[in-house]
Amino acid sequence: MITLKHITMIQNNKKVLEDFTLEIKAKERVVILGESGSGKTTILRLIAGFIAPDKGEIRIDHTIVANEGEILCPPHERNISMVFQDLALWPHMSVGENVSFGLKIHGFSKEARIKKVKEMLKLVGLLDYESRHIDVLSGGERQRVALARALALSPKILLMDEPLSSLDTKRNKILRKEIIKLQEKLGFTLVYVTHNQEEANEIATRLIFI
Ligand SMILES: Nc1ncnc2c1ncn2[C@@H]1O[C@H](COP(=O)(O)OP(=O)(O)OP(=O)(O)O)[C@@H](O)[C@H]1O
Ligand SMILES: [Mg+2]
Repeated sequence: MITLKHITMIQNNKKVLEDFTLEIKAKERVVILGESGSGKTTILRLIAGFIAPDKGEIRIDHTIVANEGEILCPPHERNISMVFQDLALWPHMSVGENVSFGLKIHGFSKEARIKKVKEMLKLVGLLDYESRHIDVLSGGERQRVALARALALSPKILLMDEPLSSLDTKRNKILRKEIIKLQEKLGFTLVYVTHNQEEANEIATRLIFI
């Protein structure tokens, strides 16, 4: 369970979030909709632990992970993965190295990493892509790599920031169905940001408008 309680965030003297409260239950697929600049990415960054709220409190499973101006539990201890708005893949690394990176940091052995990378690439339909470089991949393939990298550490919570916005309608529809399937299979809690109402309706078990 994720709880954001009475959160206020001020950026450049402007209130981006004001007294914002949201409770997300385990295994929900919550989609956040709102216009550009309304604070969607800010909400995901708060949940991930990259920033602390100016006012209010964030809990994960009853533990207070951040409160006014203070991060009490750092991102890597939250069992959360995030697919960033710009994907943030490492262009100079191969697909396999991108997926493996977080595993290495978390101390997985080489053997375990090799096994996990294969498992993840199979999961997202990129099994033959392990040694390819990011800069030669299509947009849809990059989205899949970002998804594989985010899922490699078996997160309890997956945050996705407009992950399909750069795709054409056909690929967008294919991938949104796959994200739903993966969430149902793996059972993580999904917090998903999009501008696309149709995409939101399909993915969400609950819609939040900000
Ligand atoms: N680190 C920061 N410093 C200054 N201003 C910021 C910072 N982060 C966000 N903002 C501002 O806060 C507001 C909300 O930003 P946020 O990125 O959360 O919007 P968003 O809803 O994700 O927008 P978009 O749909 O365009 O991605 C914007 O006006 C943005 O410029
Ligand atoms: Mg954003």
